[in-house]
Amino acid sequence: MSQQDRLVIFDTTMRDGEQSPGASMTKEEKVRIGKALEKMRVDVIEAGFAAASPGDFAAIQAVAEAVRESTICSLARAVDRDLEHAAEALKKAERARIHTFIATSPIHMQYKLRMQPDQVVEQAIYAVKKARGFVEDVEFSCEDAGRSENDFLCRIIEAAINAGARTINIPDTVGYAIPEEFGHKIKTLLTRIPNSDKAIFSVHCHNDLGLAVANSLAAVANGARQVECTINGLGERAGNAALEEIVMATRTRQDLFNISTNIDTTHIVPTSRLVSSITGFPVQPNKAIVGANAFAHESGIHQDGVLKHRETYEIMKAEDVGWGANKMVMGKHSGRAAFRSRLEELGVTFDTDAALNEAFARFKDLADKKHEIFDEDLQALVTETISNSAPEAYKLVALECHSAIGETPVAEVVVSHNGTEQRSKANGSGPVDAALKAIEGVANSGANLLLYSVNAITQGTDSQGEVTVRLEKGGRIVNGSGADTDIVVASAKAYIHALNLLLTGAERQHPQSDGV
Ligand code: KIV
Ligand code: ZN
Repeated sequence: MSQQDRLVIFDTTMRDGEQSPGASMTKEEKVRIGKALEKMRVDVIEAGFAAASPGDFAAIQAVAEAVRESTICSLARAVDRDLEHAAEALKKAERARIHTFIATSPIHMQYKLRMQPDQVVEQAIYAVKKARGFVEDVEFSCEDAGRSENDFLCRIIEAAINAGARTINIPDTVGYAIPEEFGHKIKTLLTRIPNSDKAIFSVHCHNDLGLAVANSLAAVANGARQVECTINGLGERAGNAALEEIVMATRTRQDLFNISTNIDTTHIVPTSRLVSSITGFPVQPNKAIVGANAFAHESGIHQDGVLKHRETYEIMKAEDVGWGANKMVMGKHSGRAAFRSRLEELGVTFDTDAALNEAFARFKDLADKKHEIFDEDLQALVTETISNSAPEAYKLVALECHSAIGETPVAEVVVSHNGTEQRSKANGSGPVDAALKAIEGVANSGANLLLYSVNAITQGTDSQGEVTVRLEKGGRIVNGSGADTDIVVASAKAYIHALNLLLTGAERQHPQSDGV
């Protein structure tokens, strides 16, 4: 198959996805996601923006060391410091890519960069050449290309390719484009730029008008051969194009696209679950491909049709995207070795015996409450063990609550704060409300609750509830998560997790906020 028939899948869950409010990931979490993406055979993994903070730098380094099959990429503005940080963080990667960018729309050049178009072209050439001094594989992006003039794009892209860029990315940064128009833009650039055959053209679409996937597909139909996307469509504001939708649309409609990806689609659902559990961003039930209802046939007519002949109402097989791959893997009699080996299959390894022992103890507790333990339960358990392994100011020691029809729910908690235990009691509109108010009685954080959500991790009424609590304080937003078969306990754990995140988060620079 020729290169023209292959679509490169570039995943930016850990960079653009991480720019979603509260979705920041730790180094260990990024390594877990990186390994899952590698198993799925993603071509390029953008692991972060190395210059954002020492933590971001260390996370890219760790992903570059742990993931050997996919290309690992760092974002860098077109400035020396960013490019040097990116190169340094990627040093140990088997295959490294530097992704440098500069804004090209009139509005961004005038108000954000305060630069003349000629200066922007010079800076782009400088950055691409400097990046090529570090790595062979350099990608150049024209930020806000969706609102940039085609004449200027042709000029800067031709110069970037001559300077050594191998991939040219056309982002619709603010999600403004409409599919026909965006497809036409790609075709125009490919036709008018004399050296366009020397680079792969890529797109990176945001979902502000709900068109990120449609715009990306229109671009593919017009010659783009890389799509930048994220698991579950995570990303800045309304998010990016969803990887699972791009992959399944091009695969299901090969008759139209005549293109293939390298993706092992059976890893899509487990990876979606992993990203959701780590970031605390639940997947809506009616989300295409990975939503709980995506393959559920509610109406009698549909069920009848599917039973007679599956293709009457199903255009994809649930098992092809990894539904049903979740087996009952363990129970209360499973031993430590089986536990460790199953987690290794899920891409989780423990640095120390103490960490393994702690996770195993949690597993035994869970197995006492819940007969069947699924992969999803193990993922949630590991997420919690890892996030709890960091030193924590607040710890939930005890929780008791009472609710009955006709009575005001009441909860009493014991929370330890820097080792000192405090007791607090509160009423609420329900037991969850009472429990969170009781915790706030100790913490007095004054944080604003932006979101509270509960999701059943698996099926059945004995399922663990996975709770996300999003808090905001002083402009910082964090997502706390907690899982338990008792959703009041899960909620209390999630609230405590969010309080600890508010205390520990480091300052980081946003790549698109200012500067070049
Ligand atoms: O949306 C965007 O323009 C970006 C670039 C940095 C590629 O994320
Ligand atoms: Zn973006």
